Amino acid sequence: SDALGIAVVGCGTVGGGVVEALLRHRDRLAQRAGRPLQLRHIVVRDRHKPREPFVPRELLTDSLAPVLQDAAVQVVVELIGGTTAAREVVLSSLAAGKHVVTANKALLAEAGPDIFEAARRAERTVCFEAAVAGGVPIIRALGESLAANQITAIQGILNGTSNYILTAMAERGLPYAQALEEAQAHGYAEADPSLDVDGSDAAHKLAILAQIAFGVIARPQDITRQGIDQLHPMDIRFAQELGYTIKLLAEAWTRSDPQHPDGPRGVALHVAPVLLRHTDLLAQVRGAYNAIAVYGDIVGETLYQGPGAGRGPTTSSVLADLIDLAVGRAQRTFAAARLWSRADRGFVLDPP
Ligand code: NAP
Ligand code: HSE
Repeated sequence: SDALGIAVVGCGTVGGGVVEALLRHRDRLAQRAGRPLQLRHIVVRDRHKPREPFVPRELLTDSLAPVLQDAAVQVVVELIGGTTAAREVVLSSLAAGKHVVTANKALLAEAGPDIFEAARRAERTVCFEAAVAGGVPIIRALGESLAANQITAIQGILNGTSNYILTAMAERGLPYAQALEEAQAHGYAEADPSLDVDGSDAAHKLAILAQIAFGVIARPQDITRQGIDQLHPMDIRFAQELGYTIKLLAEAWTRSDPQHPDGPRGVALHVAPVLLRHTDLLAQVRGAYNAIAVYGDIVGETLYQGPGAGRGPTTSSVLADLIDLAVGRAQRTFAAARLWSRADRGFVLDPP
């Protein structure tokens, strides 16, 4: 058959959304992809656990082996999270000749160069639009639409959970713990929510954006970060009274080098809560929305905004990657990522 055979690994907030959409929007997706997107396996940790009613039980398995052995599976969608089992899933899928779609920013930030080297060797593509800013197409924007630019700076709200908490505390006066519980109930938070609130998740996403925009291999541990977990409700109130909003910003700045006008000399990366004037566009990004301002030397400033976490937005980006793989466009979309296996562009990372 000419169908694109798909295995979804992980059936939680995001995996469940992808499974549901592949079944519910089967006809639309087949039309957009030019051929059917056929769901063949769903891999979970515990296949006896109760599942949402749309999950076809006959597709459930708790082992990756049937996926790797099934020649009709061309794409493995990794949606389990974490960096240990997920790394195994991605590397063994590539070794078995499957393309990979993942939303796992922690894995790409920590092991991106190894994963893209494995993909290069296997002549397969790793797609990851969903890994940064949920439903906002920022990977495609940086990798494709702004391809002619030298990017000079990126400033973004990249963690939906933190932005949700900050908004709930500022606008509804909610205590921190209750706001975090709400974010978890909406499915925005990581399995370990300390990654959201201590700035790590935003640092992972910033590392990915920096790799695409500047070609630097930024190790997440080298990105200085401060989260929102140390903020006091009084900080938020005083900021408001003075006309400011506190936002968790991830920022990348380049230092230019007159000797090398075609490339920056260094890139500084950091994540921290920042006071923004109420009138600043980034100050007006509310709830689990994300926004990213990108400065390019030809285009000037561009701004991308949208839902940054949760089932629907993340599913939307995973499906876009599957459509691109089906039509043979993904290789081009994720071309910038191929650079990751070669840290040879000569940029240096500023010391923190
Ligand atoms: P989740 O709700 O916790 O779901 C995780 C799923 O993975 C569960 O179905 C679990 O199986 C399965 N799983 C865990 N370990 C496994 C293993 N070793 N083998 C097989 N299956 C395993 O997580 P999520 O929120 O969907 O997040 C998934 C990924 O998407 C993460 O990388 C996350 O960072 C990323 N992401 C999430 C969001 C979001 O808004 N939630 C947005 C963007 C990106 P059981 O059901 O059997 O427990
Ligand atoms: N936990 C992440 C967030 C999910 O809150 O932004 C989206 O990557």
